[in-house]
Amino acid sequence: MIDNIILRLENIKKYFGKVCALDNVTVDIYEGEILGLLGDNGAGKTTLVKIISGVLSPDGGTIYLNKKPVKFNSPVDARKMGIDTVEQNLSLVNIMDISRNFFLAREPFKKIGPIKVLDKRKMDMECRKAVEEVGVRVRSTEDMVSILSGGERQSIAIGRAFHFGCRILLLDEPLAALSIKESRKVHEMIIKMKNSGATIVYITHNVYHVYPIADRFVLLDKGKKLAEAEKEEVTPEEIMETIATGRMR
Ligand SMILES: Nc1ncnc2c1ncn2[C@@H]1O[C@H](COP(=O)(O)OP(=O)(O)OP(=O)(O)O)[C@@H](O)[C@H]1O
Ligand SMILES: [Mg+2]
Repeated sequence: MIDNIILRLENIKKYFGKVCALDNVTVDIYEGEILGLLGDNGAGKTTLVKIISGVLSPDGGTIYLNKKPVKFNSPVDARKMGIDTVEQNLSLVNIMDISRNFFLAREPFKKIGPIKVLDKRKMDMECRKAVEEVGVRVRSTEDMVSILSGGERQSIAIGRAFHFGCRILLLDEPLAALSIKESRKVHEMIIKMKNSGATIVYITHNVYHVYPIADRFVLLDKGKKLAEAEKEEVTPEEIMETIATGRMR
């Protein structure tokens, strides 16, 4: 396992004014694993995700992708390098329809004479096929995202990452507001992605959400790395206790 670090975050620092959201956090992420990134509210999990996905830039530290230092200036930048994110407050744009969301920043164009126009027919067809492949049923790919359920949105965001061959998928609280049935489906999709060779970083404050499918855990507390462990080394109860008390037993 030592050699196949796909992503390394080294001494990452991030301030919001005087608040230190991340204080020299170093995390290695191994290729093909499902890493559970855990911590209580305000621990810095979303901030770390936003730094990896190019939404925020760090105030210090370095990100290494396949051992090379990288800088992402936007989520589109990160996506080009194979890093996709399903954000905590959902990654889809409400006022656009499903297929527009699916192809966001990756739209296919066709030429009509000298003019380049959006190939909406192709988008609708490909989107429907891809979404059905991951087991999501949509009435119409021209439905606005605003009318979808939480589970449908999550599934489309994950299906999009899967379809475009993302190498590293960051999921920030993917089960927030999902039913048991929807949660199970999202987990099935995550496992499918892992089986296809993707690396998953699964962020949650609830250890019971991620424990069944994770290989390893990293715990954050008040912007610092508190602990890390292989799944065989810890029970969910021990993880919860560590998060609650802010220290290892
Ligand atoms: N845009 C911002 N401006 C100011 N402070 C912020 C901003 N974003 C985050 N913070 C602060 O940084 C700290 C870490 O926040 P972050 O959202 O990363 O936590 P989290 O671990 O994702 O929490 P949760 O489990 O509640 O989602 C918090 O103290 C938060 O108030
Ligand atoms: Mg968060």
